[in-house]
Amino acid sequence: MKSHANDAARPVIEARALGKRVAIGAESIRILDGIDLAVDDNATVSISGSSGSGKTTLLALLAGLDTPTAGEVSLLGRPLAGLDEDARAALRRARVGFVFQSFHLLPNLTAEENVALALEVDTGQTDIDERVAAALDRVGLSARRRHLPSQLSGGEQQRVALARAMVVRPAVLFADEPTGNLDHATREHVASLLFDLRAEHDCTLVLVTHDRELADRCDCRYHLEGGRLVS
Ligand SMILES: Nc1ncnc2c1ncn2[C@@H]1O[C@H](COP(=O)(O)OP(=O)(O)OP(=O)(O)O)[C@@H](O)[C@H]1O
Ligand SMILES: [Mg+2]
Repeated sequence: MKSHANDAARPVIEARALGKRVAIGAESIRILDGIDLAVDDNATVSISGSSGSGKTTLLALLAGLDTPTAGEVSLLGRPLAGLDEDARAALRRARVGFVFQSFHLLPNLTAEENVALALEVDTGQTDIDERVAAALDRVGLSARRRHLPSQLSGGEQQRVALARAMVVRPAVLFADEPTGNLDHATREHVASLLFDLRAEHDCTLVLVTHDRELADRCDCRYHLEGGRLVS
C-alpha cells in the first residue's frame, strides 16, 4: 500500500484556533470557536455532537469546502488559507474523499456518471472508465452502474457515494454521518464497507456520527459542544 505521509512527523490535518461565525440578518452567530485539532496519518477520528452543534460545518472547514472566519487549517501539509478555491478543489480531487450527510448524488446522472464526476475534471486521466468500474465493483454495485439515484435504495446510493469518494484514491476521507439515513442492517453493511475501504486505501478517516458503535471503531473520539471540541 502506498504511503501518504509527506512528513512522518507532521499531522495530515491540523486546525488551529479555528472559528466560524455566520451572519443571520443583523446578527452574527458563532458556530465554532477556538478548535484545535491534529490528526495523524492513517488515524481514524470520530466527531459526535447534538444536531446543530457544528459537525458538518467543521468537516467542511477541515476539507477546504468552506473557509473559516478565524484560525487556520492545514490539510496534507498545505495551509488552506494560502490556496484559492481552484487550488483547494484540485487538492481535494487529487487526495481527498468526501461522503456527504445525504448522499449528494446528482439525480440526473447514473451511478457510474456520479462516480466519474470525481475524476473527470482532471486532465490527462486515461483510465477513468476502469477506475469507475473498479470502484463500483468494490461496493458491489456493478450491476446497477447505469441506474439513476432514484432507482437505487438509500443504502445503494450511499455505496455509490462511497465509490465516488474512494475513486480518487484519497489520502484523507471525510464522512458526514454516512450511516445516518439508513436502517439497521444497511447501516452495518455501509459501516463495514467504510472501514474496509479505509484500511485498503491506507487513508486517514474523519467521521461525523451519532452512532456510538461507529464512533467506537475509531482510534480517537471527539465531541462538539458549545462550538468547542472535547475529547
Ligand atoms: N451558512 C449558514 N448560515 C447560517 N447558519 C448556518 C450556516 N451553516 C450552518 N449554520 C448553522 O450552524 C449550526 C451548525 O450547523 P451544522 O450543519 O454544522 O450542524 P450539525 O452538527 O452538522 O447538525 P446535524 O447533526 O443536524 O447535521 C446550525 O445551527 C446551523 O443552522
Ligand atoms: Mg450535519
